[in-house]
Amino acid sequence: MIFIMDRHKRGMETMDAIYGRRSVRKYLPDPVPEDKMRMLMEAGCRAASALNAQGVSFAVVTDRDRVTEYGERGKKKTLEEWRGSERMNPHVERILTSERSVIFHRAPALIFLFTSPECYLPVEDASLVAGNIMTAAEDAGLGTCWIGLAQGLNGDPDFRRELGIPDDRTLRATITVGYPEVRETVPKEKNAPVIHGWIRQAGIS
Ligand SMILES: Cc1cc2nc3c(=O)[nH]c(=O)nc-3n(C[C@H](O)[C@H](O)[C@H](O)COP(=O)(O)O)c2cc1C
Repeated sequence: MIFIMDRHKRGMETMDAIYGRRSVRKYLPDPVPEDKMRMLMEAGCRAASALNAQGVSFAVVTDRDRVTEYGERGKKKTLEEWRGSERMNPHVERILTSERSVIFHRAPALIFLFTSPECYLPVEDASLVAGNIMTAAEDAGLGTCWIGLAQGLNGDPDFRRELGIPDDRTLRATITVGYPEVRETVPKEKNAPVIHGWIRQAGIS
């Protein structure tokens, strides 16, 4: 089926979701219904992908104890992997070494994004899927936060086995999902676009 769009249609709801999204670090304990989790992943799969590889796959955790457990293991594994590397800095080291830090912010759900070897530009493909998920979540009244500090789970054999992750898949993004306890009403201060150059078509403003 082909949809013919009004080329100048204004998508205000889309812009509301893009402008309203904030990283959420305080969640209500309420579980996220399975259909909502599936909707987020389906929205993720609408993303563009290099050479149309569509090679991003998922793993989901909605068990609160497992979220806590993977958070602790993620901290440990990421610390091992990043220690001594240029990724490490005092702020990150403090979070990864503190007994009190909770990297998944007590969210009730997690979505892990993986790429297959078929992906031509895997980081880019996974990032677009993650972006769609976060925007769709905002639209659905859910909060999300991308957790880069969980990256060490990629090399955790128990994590991979427990979630049935094939050996050829690489973890690219981890996103917490839940109903926000605190909803930021003030948009985060963002830099205005830095535009290096703009060569205009003569006669068109
Ligand atoms: C690749 C990536 C990794 C991130 N890792 C973390 C993280 O480990 N923990 C966290 O609390 N937030 C993390 N964030 C969220 C950023 O801190 C957040 O997007 C940024 O401060 C801007 O705030 P906003 O999302 O509310 O606009 C990450 C974001 C991105 C894009």
